Amino acid sequence: MLMSFEGIDGCGKSTQIELLKEHLIRSGKKVEVFREPGGSAISEQIRTILLNTDDDIHPVAELLLFSAARAQLIAEKVEPALTEGYIVILDRFYDSTTAYQGFGRDSIELDYIASINAIASLGKIPDLTFYLKISWEESKKRTAHMQEDRMEKAGQEFFEKVIEGYNYLAKTEERFVEIDASQSINSIHETILMKIAAL
Ligand code: ADP
Ligand code: TYD
Repeated sequence: MLMSFEGIDGCGKSTQIELLKEHLIRSGKKVEVFREPGGSAISEQIRTILLNTDDDIHPVAELLLFSAARAQLIAEKVEPALTEGYIVILDRFYDSTTAYQGFGRDSIELDYIASINAIASLGKIPDLTFYLKISWEESKKRTAHMQEDRMEKAGQEFFEKVIEGYNYLAKTEERFVEIDASQSINSIHETILMKIAAL
């Protein structure tokens, strides 16, 4: 089983993934969690290029770097884990590319992004995608104490477009489960557990 978590920075993905992982392990399941970009040695190196620089990166180069990191992670870690019967949870997957590089950066047409996403994910499609929906203002409050990476420096106008992208995906993708992420950590966790139980 493959699950992904999506939403803008600070929406609570890592918090919910940790709770879900603990719950699944307590129920006797084998669980692996990977974050994008990253999760493998090469993908972490690409992450450093993408996030820890102040240099300008062309929107198309950015799109292809996120995609390159993804292909390596899927081939090296995700496919073997799925084959061995692990539940794999992804902290971001190709929907981030649609929202950030497609809607946010307006890098290339959405149809092309969809093709690149299918190539970079080696055809893997999540069974469920949890979209933790939050406003830019709320996410700013939550991340105020953290250092901003290159993407987070992009500003409100960019993030409003990213949110528009996620809202579009929530309407068009059946696997999307939209959750109001301004709720308490516990009630979001309960909603996630109910959805998984219904699978
Ligand atoms: P993400 O992984 O999506 O960037 P995190 O899980 O790291 O988000 O959460 C960002 C910050 O917001 C953390 O300080 C976390 O404790 C806090 N947080 C997470 N979920 C909630 C929530 N439902 N309500 C209030 N604060 C939250
Ligand atoms: P990260 O710190 O892992 O995410 P978060 O702040 O949500 O915990 O940072 C990853 C950043 O990269 C985040 O700003 C989203 C962005 N991103 C893209 O723009 N496109 C992508 O395809 C992916 C996977 C991430």
